[in-house]
Amino acid sequence: MEKKHIDWANLGFGYIPTEKRFVANYKNGAWEDGQLTSDATVTITECAGVLQYAQTCFEGMKAYTTQDGRIVTFRPDLNAARMEASCKRLEMPVFPQERFVDAVVRTVEANEAYVPPYGSGATLYIRPYMFGSDAVIGVKPANEYQFRVFVTPVGPYFKGGVKPLTIRVCDFDRAAPHGTGHIKAGLNYAMSLYAIMDAHRQGFDENMYLDAATRTYVEETGGANFLFITKDNKVVTPKSDSILPSITRRSLLTVARDYLGLPVEERPVAFSEVADFAECGLCGTAAVISPVGKIVDHGKEICLPSGMNEMGPVTKKLYDTLTGIQMGRIEAPEGWLRVIR
Ligand SMILES: Cc1ncc(COP(=O)(O)O)c(C=O)c1O
Repeated sequence: MEKKHIDWANLGFGYIPTEKRFVANYKNGAWEDGQLTSDATVTITECAGVLQYAQTCFEGMKAYTTQDGRIVTFRPDLNAARMEASCKRLEMPVFPQERFVDAVVRTVEANEAYVPPYGSGATLYIRPYMFGSDAVIGVKPANEYQFRVFVTPVGPYFKGGVKPLTIRVCDFDRAAPHGTGHIKAGLNYAMSLYAIMDAHRQGFDENMYLDAATRTYVEETGGANFLFITKDNKVVTPKSDSILPSITRRSLLTVARDYLGLPVEERPVAFSEVADFAECGLCGTAAVISPVGKIVDHGKEICLPSGMNEMGPVTKKLYDTLTGIQMGRIEAPEGWLRVIR
């Protein structure tokens, strides 16, 4: 299939409508089969559950062209499982996991011309999502839902080279204990917008959220989990019931242990420990790992030894290995790559 004429290397992270998207409706207690459509718009009642009470959740994942020209997605089964968890917590019907993966595969296949070529640095971002679509005026779950998947090509994350981030300890909370921080609900992101815009206004790239109950443990940022490297090369990541279980972070722990032979620890990480770490990174689908160079706690600066010019050496190895797996340059663990074509 002939690729679209897109300047892949200079694409940003924005929405570019492609030819096809997948839509399935839930009515009378059952999901219809669903289909691909060219219609990029959604028409719903003014009183839809999603519009009134934010009953919506989503996923984010990517398709890649590998070195040998295959089109693959990375661990879509984990996105399917996470979306099931999100739906259950939001009283939404689950779109069955195998059908979720099938809908993702069909949507990518139908938009093959938009999958960026190997080596361009660009990728195809995939956005599955679901929302309450019928009218609710009393506060209760909707009776009808729509599940959709669209894709959009996105540019290389580190355009013009890697720049370590400066982040701040945030005075706002992202997630309450026993709340919804562990699921990918739209509401978590709506309430983070003020905090991130405020961080930007103050000159910071991101927010480090601490646990809401005691403000002593590291949680995550608005869109990525933390990974720390100790001075003796141990990989440490915060464990908490109120952070989103990042698929990238879970994969990086396996890479650290099984590919790089590094000890890994998933445990509560006190903020007071952070100044002792050698490297810090933010992990998520968008960047795989973005290095953090400086953490500012109300004027007090913690400067990571890895500095403000490059990724730390262990972070770089983790990054190179995982991206190598995703791009087919390094053999993937069984089941990690779902080959689409
Ligand atoms: C709050 C939050 N944490 C972490 C992540 C990273 O998760 P993943 O690696 O599955 O993209 C994301 C992005 O999806 C996120 O929104």
